[in-house]
Amino acid sequence: MTIKAYKLAFLLLFALFSNLTSNAQVRETINLQNDWKFIKGNPENASQITFDDTQWKTVKIPHDWAIGEPFIKDGDGNTGKLPWKAEGWYRKILDIKPSYKNKRVILVFDGVMAFPKVYINGNLAGEWDYGYNSFYIDITNFLNFDKKNILAVHADTHQHDSRWYPGGGIYRKVQMIVTNPVHVNIWGTYITTPIIKENLADVRISSIILNQSKSDQEVKIEHIIVNSNGNEIDRDSISRTVLSGKDKNLEVTLQVPNPEMWDIKNPVLYSVKTNVFIDNKLSDSEITKFGIRNIKFTADDGFHLNGRRVQLKGVNLHSDLGPLGMAFNKRALQRELEIMKSMGVNAVRNSHNVAAPELLDLCDEMGLLLFDEAFDKYDAKIDITDDTNFEDFAHRNIKNFVVRDRNHPCVFIWSVGNEIGDVQNNINNGFQRLHTMVNYVDKYDPTRPVTLVNDNMQSAALRHFDYYDVHSWNYGRRYRLARELEPNKSVIISESASTVSTRGFYEFPLPDKKTDFTKSLQVSSYDLNAPAWAEISDDDFMWQQDEPYVAGEFVWTGFDYLGEPTPYSNQEVKKMGMTDKDASRSSYFGIVDLVGIPKDRYYLYKSYWKPEETTVHILPHWNWEGKEGDTIPVFVYTNGNSAELFVNGKSQGKQYKKPDSKNSVERFRLMWKDVVYQPGEVKAVAYKNGVEIETNVVKTAGKPYQLKLTADRTELDANGKDLSYILIEAVDKQGNLCPLADNNINISIKGDAHIAGVGNGNPQSFAPFQSNTIKLFYGKAMVIVGSNNNQSDLLVKATSKGLKSHAIKLEIK
Ligand code: GAL
Repeated sequence: MTIKAYKLAFLLLFALFSNLTSNAQVRETINLQNDWKFIKGNPENASQITFDDTQWKTVKIPHDWAIGEPFIKDGDGNTGKLPWKAEGWYRKILDIKPSYKNKRVILVFDGVMAFPKVYINGNLAGEWDYGYNSFYIDITNFLNFDKKNILAVHADTHQHDSRWYPGGGIYRKVQMIVTNPVHVNIWGTYITTPIIKENLADVRISSIILNQSKSDQEVKIEHIIVNSNGNEIDRDSISRTVLSGKDKNLEVTLQVPNPEMWDIKNPVLYSVKTNVFIDNKLSDSEITKFGIRNIKFTADDGFHLNGRRVQLKGVNLHSDLGPLGMAFNKRALQRELEIMKSMGVNAVRNSHNVAAPELLDLCDEMGLLLFDEAFDKYDAKIDITDDTNFEDFAHRNIKNFVVRDRNHPCVFIWSVGNEIGDVQNNINNGFQRLHTMVNYVDKYDPTRPVTLVNDNMQSAALRHFDYYDVHSWNYGRRYRLARELEPNKSVIISESASTVSTRGFYEFPLPDKKTDFTKSLQVSSYDLNAPAWAEISDDDFMWQQDEPYVAGEFVWTGFDYLGEPTPYSNQEVKKMGMTDKDASRSSYFGIVDLVGIPKDRYYLYKSYWKPEETTVHILPHWNWEGKEGDTIPVFVYTNGNSAELFVNGKSQGKQYKKPDSKNSVERFRLMWKDVVYQPGEVKAVAYKNGVEIETNVVKTAGKPYQLKLTADRTELDANGKDLSYILIEAVDKQGNLCPLADNNINISIKGDAHIAGVGNGNPQSFAPFQSNTIKLFYGKAMVIVGSNNNQSDLLVKATSKGLKSHAIKLEIK
C-alpha cells in the first residue's frame, strides 16, 4: 500500500471511530506549538506569573536555541561549533478553560535538552533529567481557574556532555492532554500478540486505569479492534472497581481471524480503540495502533521476520536534522527515511538515544525495522551526574522509553546502550548496571530481545553477553570472539563501515591506506577512506556474504550529522599542524551529506542492497581542466556484474565483479584505475549476466550559465511546520551540472512562507544555517522552505551574479 493509501485508510478508520463514540470528545490533546517566549540566560523570577517577558523572543516549539546562531570558529568541532552549552527559559500562557475545573491536565514533553524544570504559576510542577527522554507531568493541582496560567520551563545544558551536537532547549513537541479524573494513564495501553497463527492471532490488551476522582469507581473498559480498512474485527469489555486515588491494570484478550501481518513489504497496522465508562457514561477514549508480526533471531540463520530470513540493511541516524538542528520536524525526518529507503534500507538504529516518538510512527507506516536504543555511555552523556542514584535513574528512564514505544511493530530489539567501556569490562559494577538496565526493559516488555552494543573485542571474554540476547558489535568483525564463546546467539553489526567522504570532492592518487587523509580538510569520495578502527563499506558486505549467521548491518551513518568531524576534529587537525579554527563542524560519515544530497556511496549501497533496481553510477565528475593526459581512476557502482567504459567513444575495456575475491572492493565495484583524461565524456555500459542493462554518461561541463531549482514537494500544508527541500544547482548552457561551481546564491520568497534553513553539505562551512544566502558546494546546495499557518502561492527564486536566475512555484494549502 502506498503512503497515500494509508492516509486514506486511516481517515476512514477515524471516521468509523467517531461513529462508534456518540459522546462528545472526552480527551483533548492540544499541541503547544505557537506563542512561546524564549530567552537565553537565567533572569531572576522568570518562573513567576508577574514576570514581564515581552522583551523575550517569540518562538515556536520545537525549538533549538543554538542552531540559528553564528558558528564559533575555534570552538569544539566534535559538538558542532555551535553555542548549545547554555541555559534558557521558555514561557507560555496556558489556555485553561473553565470547563477544565473537574478535569486532569497533563503536559507531555517529548524531549528537553537538558535537565528541564517545569513551573506552573511560579511553582515547580516537575522536572526530568535525561534530555533525550519523554516525560509527563500532571499539572492539575497547580492551575488557577480565576486568573491566567503561566507555564515556564528552564533548561540547562551545562552538565550535559556529548560526543556530537545535542542542541538545546525544548527541541521536541509539547502536548497538553485534558482528561476526566478516571482515564487511561499516559502510555497506559499495552498490546501484545502472544499467539499468531495463520488463521488467528490473540491480541492481549492491558490498560492502566487511573482513578483520580474523590470516590471509588466501578469502571467498565471496552476495547475494539479495527483493521486498516476501518472494519471492526473484535470487541470485548471488562468491569472492575478502581479505588479512589489508585490505578488498576485491566486486561482482555481479543482475536483477529486471518491476521494481516505487519511486514517491511506491507506494513499493515491495526488499531485498538479503548473506551472507559462509568455508569455507562464515556469517561475516556483513546486509540492505539499496533501490528501483528513474528520476529525471531536464530543462532545460525540471522533474523527472521514472519517466518523468512531478512538481512538487516540498516543505517544509524543521529537525531539532528542538519540545518534544522535538533528542532524536531516530522517532514524532515520522513524525508530522511524516504531517502534511506530509496537506497534499499529496511532498518534504522536511532543512535544513541531515545528517539522522537514520530520516528516510531514513521517506521511503522513505512515498513522499517527499528533497533531502538536508549543511551550512549552511562555518564554525563545521558545526564547521570555525581548525585544520580543509578537504580532510580535506570528505572524511570527505561520505563518511559519502553512504555512509550512498546506497541510499535517496527521495534525488533531494545538496546540499553552504546560502547560503554566500564560496563563491557565490568569496572565500577559494570555488569550490575547492565543487569539493572536489561531487567527494567524486560519488566516493561518481555516480548522483544535486548542487547548491548560493544566495541572492545576482548571484553567478550568476561561474557557480558550472558546478560542479554543478541551479540551487537561495532566494526572490524569484533563480534568473532563473542560468537565463538557463545555460538547460540545471533550477531548484528550495530555499526559498520564508518567510511568517510565529502560529496563531490576527489583526490589523486588513490589512498594507499584507508587512513591516508590530507590537509585538504575534505575526504576524497572514492570511498576508500575510513578511520583506524573502521572499514570501507565493501568489507561489511563481504563479511556478511561469508558469515550468514550475521543478521545484518547498520551503517555508520545514513546521513551526515552535526559534530564528530573525523578525520578533521580539533585534536586531529592539530596533529596535522593546523589549529582549532581549521577543525570541521559536521561529519564525513554519511552516505548522503548533511542536507540529504547523495554522495557516491549512496549508489554503492543501492547497487548491492537494491539489486532489483538498475544502478549505473560513474565517479568522479569529468571536469579536470589542467589534467589533460594524466590518468584518473574511474569507478562504476552498478547492480550489473560487468561494464565497459568509454572515453569519447574509445573503449577502456570491460571489467567484471569478482565474487570470490578476498579484496572486498573487487566483489562490489568496477574500477578502471588509469583512465587517461581528455575532456568530453566518459560512458559506462553495464551488463547483468551478459545482458545490457543501462548506459550512463558523465560529460565535461562548460562554464556555469544558469541556476536550476528542483523541489522535492511543491504543495505544502498550511500548518506552520511543513517543508519543501529545494535543490539548487548550477548548470552549463546544455544543462550539464557544473561540478566545481561555488557561486553565492541569494534566495527570495514571494508569498507567506519562510526559509527554515540552508546548507550545502560542506563540513567546513561556517555560514549560518538560517539565512537567505548560500554558497554552492561542488555545484549544489539546498534551501528548505517552511510553511506558515496561512494558505499562499509561493514563488521561490534563486539568483546569483553572472548566472541566469531560476524561480519555481509552490503552493501552501
Ligand atoms: C563508534 C561510536 C559512534 C561513532 C562512531 C564513529 O565507535 O559508537 O557513536 O562515534 O564510532 O566511527
